[in-house]
Amino acid sequence: MGARGLAGRLAAARAGALVGREPERAVLDRMLSGAAQAPFVAYLHGPGGIGKSSLVRYAARQAELTGRRVVHVDARFLDADPRRLEEAAAPACTEPGTVLLIDTFEQCQPLETWLRETFLLRLADHAIAVVASRTAPDAEWSLDPGWAQLFTALAVQPLDAAQSDALLAARGVPVEQRGAFVAFAGGSPLALSLAASVPAAAPGAPWYPTGDILTTLVERLVGDLPGAVHRRALEVVAQAYVTREPLLRKVLGDQDTNTVFS
Ligand SMILES: Nc1ncnc2c1ncn2[C@@H]1O[C@H](COP(=O)(O)OP(=O)(O)OP(=O)(O)O)[C@@H](O)[C@H]1O
Ligand SMILES: [Mg+2]
Repeated sequence: MGARGLAGRLAAARAGALVGREPERAVLDRMLSGAAQAPFVAYLHGPGGIGKSSLVRYAARQAELTGRRVVHVDARFLDADPRRLEEAAAPACTEPGTVLLIDTFEQCQPLETWLRETFLLRLADHAIAVVASRTAPDAEWSLDPGWAQLFTALAVQPLDAAQSDALLAARGVPVEQRGAFVAFAGGSPLALSLAASVPAAAPGAPWYPTGDILTTLVERLVGDLPGAVHRRALEVVAQAYVTREPLLRKVLGDQDTNTVFS
């Protein structure tokens, strides 16, 4: 199977697995269809694992299905250097109607003013842009009377209980296990997906998140850590309702606790 075939099947499977997000999809659909009054820039924001990239992929797929050119930039792979972002996004300045997608923009957040005041003004006619970041947009987008009409911020929210249940059902989690997963995940699609990926507990046995799940969550949400002690401390934080220094001293010992607090 060629790369296009595989890419197409992946995109279709991901689109089929997307739960909820009707309001965000509706805005993206309106932008893609060029509806009157549709925004020119959508800025998706929310914490790690909430589903921003999934919506960016949704926009990519819808754009491709309608024959629009997609320029998909992931700032994870760029430095916070305008030249790198400019270079990667440049094709969106030439072909009319291009859909520019900038994901993981928090890695380049210092470029927000440059993006708004310089780069986006160069986009080709009828191009639109979707930006996704863990950081909310700065106030200037809505203070500026011009941008206020062309820009929309979409705060991506946790999934509700019914949507969380639907995600788990789609991943084949037995109905009797879903309640514990939903309670653990607090609406985070990442936490739900991770919980769904581990083998089911014995029927009737209580379920607790394993160390693997917590470690993967910490890695995905926090990224690189200075070392094992910081990782262990974060695993404690992830499990304890309230983390105080005496608790950390009990788990990590005095010396490592001093390292974490230093
Ligand atoms: N609406 C959804 N329906 C089903 N699965 C979802 C949904 N949103 C996210 N997921 C799943 O949750 C996981 C995390 O989603 P995603 O990567 O989109 O989060 P993110 O907000 O981009 O996180 P980060 O800030 O780390 O980049 C992925 O495995 C994705 O498939
Ligand atoms: Mg992402």
